[in-house]
Amino acid sequence: MSIIFSEKFRTFSLHTNRSTYQMKISDMGYLFHVYYGERIKDEDLSYLITYYDRGFSPNPNQAGNDRTISLDVMPQEFSGTGAGDFRISSIEVENSDGSRVFEGKYAGHRIYKGKYKQHGLPGIRVNENDCVDTVEIDLKDEVSGLKAVLCYTVFENLDIITRKVHIVNEGSGTVRLNKIMSVTMDYIDSDYDFIHFDGRHAMEREMHRDSVHYGQQSVGSLRGTSSHQHNPFVVLCSRDAGEAAGSCYGFSFVYSGNFQCVVQKDQYDQLRLVMGIHPECFAWPLNKGDVFDAPEVVMAYTNQGFTELSHIYHDVFRTNLNDSIYMKQKRPVLINSWEAAYFDFNHETLVKMAKNAACMGVDLFVLDDGWFGERNDDTCALGDWEVNTEKLSKGLKGLVDEINEIGLDFGIWIEPEMVSENSRLYLSHPEWALKIPKRPVTRGRYQLVLDLSRKDVREYIVTFVNQILDSANIKYVKWDMNRSISDAWSGLLDKSDQGKVMHRYVLGLYEILDRLVHEHPDVLFEGCSGGGGRFDAGMLYYHPQIWCSDNTDAINRLKIQYGTSFGYPVSSMGAHVSVCPNHQTGRTTPLQTRAVTAMSGTFGYELDPGKMTAEEKEQCRYMTEQFKKYNDLIFNGDYYRLESPYGDKGFAAWAYISKDKEEGLASVVITDKEPNDAQRYLKFRGLKADAFYEVDGLTDAHCEADGLTDAHCKVNGLTGAVSGRALMCAGIPIDNTLKEYESVQFHIRLHKNNEEEI
Ligand code: GLA
Repeated sequence: MSIIFSEKFRTFSLHTNRSTYQMKISDMGYLFHVYYGERIKDEDLSYLITYYDRGFSPNPNQAGNDRTISLDVMPQEFSGTGAGDFRISSIEVENSDGSRVFEGKYAGHRIYKGKYKQHGLPGIRVNENDCVDTVEIDLKDEVSGLKAVLCYTVFENLDIITRKVHIVNEGSGTVRLNKIMSVTMDYIDSDYDFIHFDGRHAMEREMHRDSVHYGQQSVGSLRGTSSHQHNPFVVLCSRDAGEAAGSCYGFSFVYSGNFQCVVQKDQYDQLRLVMGIHPECFAWPLNKGDVFDAPEVVMAYTNQGFTELSHIYHDVFRTNLNDSIYMKQKRPVLINSWEAAYFDFNHETLVKMAKNAACMGVDLFVLDDGWFGERNDDTCALGDWEVNTEKLSKGLKGLVDEINEIGLDFGIWIEPEMVSENSRLYLSHPEWALKIPKRPVTRGRYQLVLDLSRKDVREYIVTFVNQILDSANIKYVKWDMNRSISDAWSGLLDKSDQGKVMHRYVLGLYEILDRLVHEHPDVLFEGCSGGGGRFDAGMLYYHPQIWCSDNTDAINRLKIQYGTSFGYPVSSMGAHVSVCPNHQTGRTTPLQTRAVTAMSGTFGYELDPGKMTAEEKEQCRYMTEQFKKYNDLIFNGDYYRLESPYGDKGFAAWAYISKDKEEGLASVVITDKEPNDAQRYLKFRGLKADAFYEVDGLTDAHCEADGLTDAHCKVNGLTGAVSGRALMCAGIPIDNTLKEYESVQFHIRLHKNNEEEI
């Protein structure tokens, strides 16, 4: 059992392989947080909590005249409101008598094998060999009858704890739930940095690291999606933490809608972090007997720095989040028509594009936006999901069959959650769009959002997507969502229930996706929201991959993919080679650099090969081959951020090292170049220190000819194998004649006669 309840100390100790989490039921029945950190024995650490009189910190009634006990300062597992804790709360309610108090006290617990149940929400799955235990702890407010069930599942071998809160109204009156956080983490110290990933459309998940300071710092989204602006994955770390060392706590919210994460440093230099559904625009009335399930947070701790923290999340998300067959089998290398043609294509141009792509080793052709209704630009036709036969003269099946004959699979773009006002769907069902009576609608990209809280809308979406998927041999779907949600009001809900709309939208989306991905198990689903506007663990539960960003500029992508890699594996990041000058930035980068960057993702193309020279096509063919050759290493190896694209060394570098440490692939991109500058060295990580490795430079810009013939060029001056220790501590020189934006890859493999060498 990884969860131990001590009758004597009234402590719960939750152990993963390398971490321990401890809570204690206090004498008065409050649930205190005692410890989260390196694995310890089942000892009672509650001596860490100290009691002394602190001015203006009120005392619970039960404490009588004892002024040393105050909820205002105690580290708690779940903090109520209105009962003496003035820090950021875990819950806010309006009771049937109008009061706004929740004071939860211990009312029982259950420890059992396996994971808690989730109702309509995504979460980490339990695989056959996982050692998984759960504890549910009831905290009840005796006056209102509201009960918060704190649920923790320990995945011992995966080194994570998943956590959620389940609310039950066991009272007789209606309670309105105005806020419910899925995680509350109290620390008795506050010397931490808060790392979050922020951005905007086409520049998502840039890493930001701030010192925690007095007051509150928060990130979140009110856009109905997890958003381009902030990501629901955050890290708290010690001030000295870096890639290879330091205490790090990760929190990943398995949810795709409005969220909030707040850290607060209090007057006694303690810290609290809460994460959950954003309380703004949220109100959930609970009648007698009603329940509410808050989404899950995945927590991880390591004292080994960011790389180790990322590895924990990468491993868990690769093995336990998504059950698609594509998590285990090779993903297709695809070509997408969007940047190649936008809305301007027909049957013949697409077939030609596919033929050219086939010569580049591509496996799958994706027809993006513009194939349906009168969709010749983005002002209309969302909702009219019938094939535009003016463009596709042989219909969808005719096109798919022809592309299949070329030897490529076929994929299609859809944006099912939306409707254009200029569409037949809107004409027949204006009430299906989210909008508020008597108020003018707010448009985003000329479109409105369908009300997924409605069953009829969900049925309509499932039906039309099924029809499309059954109409031809379709092997891939790009599921897009191209605006932030506003005007949240549903025609089918009472006025007292309108605060449910945003969350019900997300639940509706999850229900639709759950049905579709399981009805079409052989279809690969790629998520998208104007690129990476809904890149979160919730969507990754349904989609093995998500289009990382609408920005395909290789240099910008270094930062976007760097930030994304902290919480998500390479195999989840949609990444394509596009043309230059780049359509988003106007920048020109070598084709190889675009390919090397796209290789740090699902790898594909978004260009018209018909417009490329024979040499360029041949280079693409070669790079596709390279990707396929190293696909397993890239997707299943351990990912190391070697040089940050934000650093001052003038290059960015990263590597994938196989789990057995016998093989590795490192990529280097020169991001900033000055003439006559200093020699740069690339230092590896994650190797066997005492083993010897052969090092090959792959297709650097100066041996293109070799690259095209599949030959490797040797690293200058390197004659024999190099020890892992030398590669990690001293590194290897990066060819100083590489120009700005050029790139090089190094492949390393354990030296065949390793024993002799040693
Ligand atoms: C979004 C996506 C793009 C493309 C367009 C089509 O912006 O992120 O990749 O599919 O929509 O309209």
